[in-house]
Amino acid sequence: MNPLKIGQHTIELPIVQGGMGIGVSWDRLAGTVSLEGGLGIISAIGTGYYQNMQYAAKVINSRPYDTQNLYSFEALKEIVKNARKICAHKPIGVNIMCAINDYSRVVADACKSGIDIIISGAGLPTNLPELTKNFPNVALVPIVSSAKALKIICKRWTQRYGRVPDAVVLEGPLSGGHQGFTYEQCAMEEYQLENLIAPVKEEIREWGDFPLIAAGGIWDKNDIDKAMALGADGVQMGTRFIGTHECDADEVFKQVLIEAKKEDIQLLKSPVGYPARGVRTNLINLVDKREGPAIKCVSNCVTPCQRGKEAKEVGYCIADRLADAWKGKRESGLFFTGANGYKLKEIISVKELLHKLVNGE
Ligand SMILES: Cc1cc2nc3c(=O)[nH]c(=O)nc-3n(C[C@H](O)[C@H](O)[C@H](O)COP(=O)(O)O)c2cc1C
Repeated sequence: MNPLKIGQHTIELPIVQGGMGIGVSWDRLAGTVSLEGGLGIISAIGTGYYQNMQYAAKVINSRPYDTQNLYSFEALKEIVKNARKICAHKPIGVNIMCAINDYSRVVADACKSGIDIIISGAGLPTNLPELTKNFPNVALVPIVSSAKALKIICKRWTQRYGRVPDAVVLEGPLSGGHQGFTYEQCAMEEYQLENLIAPVKEEIREWGDFPLIAAGGIWDKNDIDKAMALGADGVQMGTRFIGTHECDADEVFKQVLIEAKKEDIQLLKSPVGYPARGVRTNLINLVDKREGPAIKCVSNCVTPCQRGKEAKEVGYCIADRLADAWKGKRESGLFFTGANGYKLKEIISVKELLHKLVNGE
């Protein structure tokens, strides 16, 4: 496998560990992946929960109060600092969803925390270069689900900022968490990852020469080889990294995945406005009957939710449920996973996992 070049950074292995919020990829996971030669990505989502919420200035009902405490700058700085203690000066990134409230501020926080790379999706990061202009060394990587989305980004970035992305993550519909597709599209042949790589590669050529990182449903070396053969320069993997000792989520989270059967993994409605893939636990059955936990909107997490309006429509608060999953609360947690999550059978170290991915054992 060839190294992956993202801006001025060289990643020994072309394997990116996808950012996973809330709390699934923080300092321990991301730091270790970077140490071992991949690219570790810290999730900037819900950092106010980090280390028993000690960095959140105000906590109500055991939740970080309002956006500035949910996305705590102090906590993000600490997470990046602690990840650096693990990986030293190897490149490390942050994932920031465009859909969060305070997106611009959190991008600035990530830059000030000394991050090397920002990966950003769940919406189009059309003004990301503007938000990072004082940090020219931070590499910028949008996540897209189509050649059309990449075209829009490249056009805007070229016209307004005279630059193109340093790499692009192309995420197909087998990925964990939020999808860049409708429910119908997720099942359609033409939207499967293997059919999106060529058109996106072609779009990249229109604008220059930056790497394509394929994501969604990549499980083993065979899948990596297939993506590379189709034209990818690297892969981003999420779910497989949940099955590591270093994954920052509670052991119960890992256990829920180990116990999940193929049919338990489904597309679910989300207040973010996109379908999201997760495990159908008892929580989802309760939500369907409108008997889920109360929706209080303490943390004011994402713009599309409109301060709890969408949460009430859909039947649950996304920030509260994802935080509970991270804490290992089986009954009230929402456990995101990719479509291959049922393949998870054991918890191994990041080092062992990367060895398997490279050597195919
Ligand atoms: C638990 C979980 C949480 C995730 N959270 C985020 C997130 O906050 N932002 C984001 O852009 N992608 C998120 N993702 C997507 C991953 O970064 C990754 O691209 C995706 O999971 C790849 O598909 P795979 O799980 O089949 O490998 C999440 C995925 C999982 C499984």
